[in-house]
Order: sequence, then structure tokens, then C-alpha cells
Amino acid sequence: MGFYDRYILPELINFSCGLPQICKQRNQIVPLASGRVLEIGFGSGLNLPFYNTENVERLFALEPSEGMRKKSSPLLEKSLMECQWLDLEAEQVPLEDNSIDTVVLTYTLCTIPGWQNALQQMRRVLKPDGVLLFSEHGLAPDEAVRKWQDRLNPVWNIIAGGCHLNRDIPRFLRESGFDIQDINEGYMPKSPRFASYNYRGIAKQKK
Ligand SMILES: C[S@@+](CC[C@H](N)C(=O)[O-])C[C@H]1O[C@@H](n2cnc3c(N)ncnc32)[C@H](O)[C@@H]1O
Repeated sequence: MGFYDRYILPELINFSCGLPQICKQRNQIVPLASGRVLEIGFGSGLNLPFYNTENVERLFALEPSEGMRKKSSPLLEKSLMECQWLDLEAEQVPLEDNSIDTVVLTYTLCTIPGWQNALQQMRRVLKPDGVLLFSEHGLAPDEAVRKWQDRLNPVWNIIAGGCHLNRDIPRFLRESGFDIQDINEGYMPKSPRFASYNYRGIAKQKK
């Protein structure tokens, strides 16, 4: 891991993903997590204050980046929840089939290189009635904004640790065998439009 990934990127992600407009989205979705919870791309632990700790039996914090784990481990250690690190990528979740009640996926599907495999893993570990709680930025509905998303994506990808501006989040979920039960979408305030079209909702495995 280079200097940028180890020291700069965790600070940059912590700052940008901790902006009030993003925390407002977290507050709408993370408190719904219950039971055995798997958070994909735990990052700097920005979701921790939003969990309803009484409803969470155990939190599996999956995060492949050592820099991000270093940033969030003091918070995780202080948590009232029983927590366990999974220091692997989402493409290879080391948990049993049908063993998780809630998968939490916030601002991470934009980054995962093998998103198809990762979503397959999430489906595999979810119990049949388990839920995937998501809040992700992605492809905007407006043509003019999409053009900018496509233009800026290559540079953004380098600066933002592999993040894509133009992923079609609902399509990715549906193509991977999820039924979207509830979705709320729109531009977040006080942010550039190319990076702020947000998809927040609840998905379940297709029957
Ligand atoms: C923009 S950050 C978001 C962090 C956190 N989910 C949040 O809501 O603040 C994206 C995270 O995805 C992680 N990530 C990158 N590739 C991944 C992969 N293949 N599997 C799981 N997480 C990954 C990064 O290390 C980073 O912590």
C-alpha cells in the first residue's frame, strides 16, 4: 500500500463521507439494521453512531484497506456492540450461507471492483428474509450531469480510491438478484451534482 492510500485517502474519505448531507442519509437507513449485521466497506466507521445498538447482536466489519481499518479501529473498540473485523474484500466474504440478518452497504458499491461477485456474496450470506440496507451515490438521471460523470470518472477514480461516479446502483442490485422494496433517490444538497445523486433504500433477495 502506497503513502497516498495509507495516510491521505483515509482522511479524505473520512472528511467527504462525513459531510452533514451524507450523515443525514446514514441516519435514515443505518438504524434499521438488526440481528447479525455485515457492513461492507466499513471505512472510517462513520456509520457506527447511527446503529441502534440494542437491536444489533453482532457487527461484522468488512474492510480490506489497512489504512481505513487503522482509522476506524479506535471507534470500533469503543463500540457497545459485539464487533468483529473481516479484513478481506467483499468479493470473498468468509461467512456461512444464510447467516446474516442485515447487510449494510453505504458509499461502497461505487468502489468495489468486482461488484457482481460482491453482491452475489451478500446474497449468499443473507438469510432468506434478511435485508440489504443501502445508501450509495451513482448515475444521475439528467443527461447533462451524466456527461460530466463520464468525463470526470477516470480522474475521480484515481483520486478517490477507485470510486466510480456513474454506477447505476438500482440496476446493479436488480441484475444481482435483489428486489428493491423501497427506494428514495435525489441530489443531496450542498454538493456538486456529478457526485451527489443518492440512492437509499432496502432490498431483499428475489424469491
Ligand atoms: C468511500 S468509502 C465508504 C466507507 C463507508 N462504507 C462509509 O459509508 O463511510 C469506500 C470503502 O470501500 C472500501 N473498499 C474498496 N474496495 C473494496 C472491496 N473490494 N470490498 C469491500 N470494500 C472495499 C474502501 O477501502 C473504503 O473503505
